[in-house]
Formats: sequence, C-alpha cells, structure tokens
Amino acid sequence: MNNLALDKELMFKAIEEAKRGIPHVYPNPAVGCVIHDGGKILSTGYHKMFGGNHAEHDALQKLDKSARGLTMYVSLEPCAHVGKTVACSDLIDPEIFKRIVIAEKDPNKKASGSIEKIKRSGIEVEVGLLKEEARALNKRFYVFHEQKRPYVILKYASTLDGFVAENDGYSKWITNEKSRKENHYTRSICDAILVGSNTARLDNPNLGSHGLAKDPKIVVINNDEDLSSLNLFKKEPIVYSSKDLTDNYEKNISFILNDLYKKNIQSLLVEGGAKTISGFINSGVFDELHCYIAPKFLGEGLNIFQGKSSIKKNYGLKIVDAKIIGDDVKIIYTRNAN
Ligand SMILES: NC(=O)c1ccc[n+]([C@@H]2O[C@H](COP(=O)([O-])OP(=O)(O)OC[C@H]3O[C@@H](n4cnc5c(N)ncnc54)[C@H](OP(=O)(O)O)[C@@H]3O)[C@@H](O)[C@H]2O)c1
Repeated sequence: MNNLALDKELMFKAIEEAKRGIPHVYPNPAVGCVIHDGGKILSTGYHKMFGGNHAEHDALQKLDKSARGLTMYVSLEPCAHVGKTVACSDLIDPEIFKRIVIAEKDPNKKASGSIEKIKRSGIEVEVGLLKEEARALNKRFYVFHEQKRPYVILKYASTLDGFVAENDGYSKWITNEKSRKENHYTRSICDAILVGSNTARLDNPNLGSHGLAKDPKIVVINNDEDLSSLNLFKKEPIVYSSKDLTDNYEKNISFILNDLYKKNIQSLLVEGGAKTISGFINSGVFDELHCYIAPKFLGEGLNIFQGKSSIKKNYGLKIVDAKIIGDDVKIIYTRNAN
C-alpha cells in the first residue's frame, strides 16, 4: 500500500471513530482520531459526549508515551483553546509525534488556530485529506459557523398530488403513525422548530419530540394575531411579529435566521405550513428537505408550493435517502450549494 492509500485508510478510520459520538456530542462536532507508528495502529479515540474529552485526548490516554516518530490522523483541527477541556494542541508532544494529518480546519473561531502552533513545535502538519467526508459528518456545525445561521431543514407531509391540507385547513393526519414518529425523532435532534401563524392557529400543534428526547425550542412567525391561548404558547416560544417583520418574506427569513444564530440555534426544523415553507424555498436559504408522501389524492386543497416557478428552474436538490415507511415514502434531499 502506498503512503497516500495508507493515509486515506487511516483517516477513514478516524472518521468512522468520530461517528460513534453522534448524537451525544451535539452541539459540538463529532471528531475521531487514530495514532499510527508507520506499521500499525497504536491507539484510537473519539469525542464521546458534549463536555467530555476530545478525540485526541481520548486516543492519547490509551497511548504508550514511550513511542516515538508517530503520526496522528484527526478528522478536525485540534482545538487551541481551553474550554470545558484542555487545549488539544497542547497535548500533542513533538517528542512523540513527527506528523499530524488533519481532514479539515475548525470553522469555530473560538477553537481554531492550532495549526501554526503545532507546526512551530516541529511537527509536520498536513490539512485536507478526506475533507468532504469530514465536513459531511458535521454539516450543521459547518453551516452554523461559516454561514452564521442555523442549518435549515424543511419538512412537510403531502398527498401523492402534493397537497398538505384540505381546503378548510384540515390536515390530521396525512401520513401514518410511523412516519410521524420518525419526524418526532428529527425534532429531538434539532435545536428549534418553526411554524407560521396559520399552522399555529389551525393545528394548535404540540411540536415536541413526544418523549423521544429533548424538545426543540419553538419559533413562530406571527404578525400580531393573539395566539396566546394555543398549546405552543405555554412553552415560551420565540415569536417574530410585525415589529421584526416587513412585507418581504425573504428579508424576514434572513432576519430570523440571523437572530436565531445570535441565540446559538445551530439547527432549525421548519414544519410549515405551505406559505412558510414556500418562503424558505423561494429565499433559497435551506439545506435539507424532508418530504413524507402518503398514498392519498385530494385534487384540491393547500398545495405545498405557494408561488411561481418553472420546469427549467434548478433547485440544486440531490436525493440522499429514500425510505419506505409502511405505505408512505420519506425522501430526504440536500442542496448542492452546501
Ligand atoms: N401537511 C403538512 O406537512 C403541514 C404542516 C404544517 C401545516 N399544515 C397545514 O398548513 C396550513 C397552514 O399553512 P398556510 O400556508 O396557510 O400558513 P402558514 O405557513 O402556517 O402560516 C403563514 C403565515 O405565517 C406568517 N409567515 C410565514 N412566513 C413568513 C415570512 N417569511 N414573513 C412574514 N410572515 C410570515 C404570515 O403570517 P401573517 O398572515 O400573520 O402575516 C403568514 O400568513 C394548515 O391547514 C395546516 O394544517 C400542513
């Protein structure tokens, strides 16, 4: 095996290690580490839970410190700051390591900056091996820090002919119980969930994870209608009203995402209704689309897409998963742009 093939194999192993920490490390990134002596793997480690030891620290704890001339493979730049744990860059001893291979830099300005420091200590540093794979592992984290907004997932449940409600607003339930449970899980791994005022009023939804794990923070876009008697208002939602909003939906979305970023919301699930989801589709600011499709036809009602488009318009959507749930189908798209 040549050096590049070996490097790739070991970085793949570091990425596999990182996956073991998902979702327990959230909102931190998942990170894995492999230590190799040129002939064999001496130690592996990963970031196991939020606030716990980082991957490098975990791998170093299991290493015989008398070893020399080693290479460390790590899926994210070692941190340079002392936070809940020590700075990983201070743990990488130039007596022990001759080389470190890093898949991708850390976009979080508070933690980054270790590369130059490690180089100054005399260790050879290489950055960028399997960068795309490492970024995919922590896509929410990268969008949050690089684009300064939450990672946005749009979710809807529709009939085969694209309707999300009947004419009078009735929509319970289009999809089966298993599909709805699947979405409760998605709620439990998002920081916040957003709905428009019509959905809040007509559905009076719970918007929680139904006991699966933590509930997301509720966000409502509501221009001044009194909705205070609704279920979701018992959960102290973040409300965007006429004092924050203009009549330009795209500007409003940009304002809301910027404000949620400042509130440290790393991931946002947008659950409708049609006007709200269409606002995000038209603004182009979203990262993932979860479509649940049930074997039903309505012929008329509320169509998921409110607006004008054309067959030629390319939304940059790529299928990353399709799953049969009973007689429903769940399709997940991501956007090329991200
Ligand atoms: N099947 C599904 O997946 C699903 C999911 C959720 C809801 N639904 C159904 O969808 C229906 C409601 O959908 P809908 O399209 O009528 O309304 P909606 O999207 O729930 O709410 C739209 C309202 O929210 C506010 N809003 C949303 N985005 C905004 C933006 N970017 N800027 C400013 N204001 C914004 C506006 O309030 P103002 O009018 O106050 O300005 C707008 O009229 C209900 O029947 C519900 O049952 C279906």
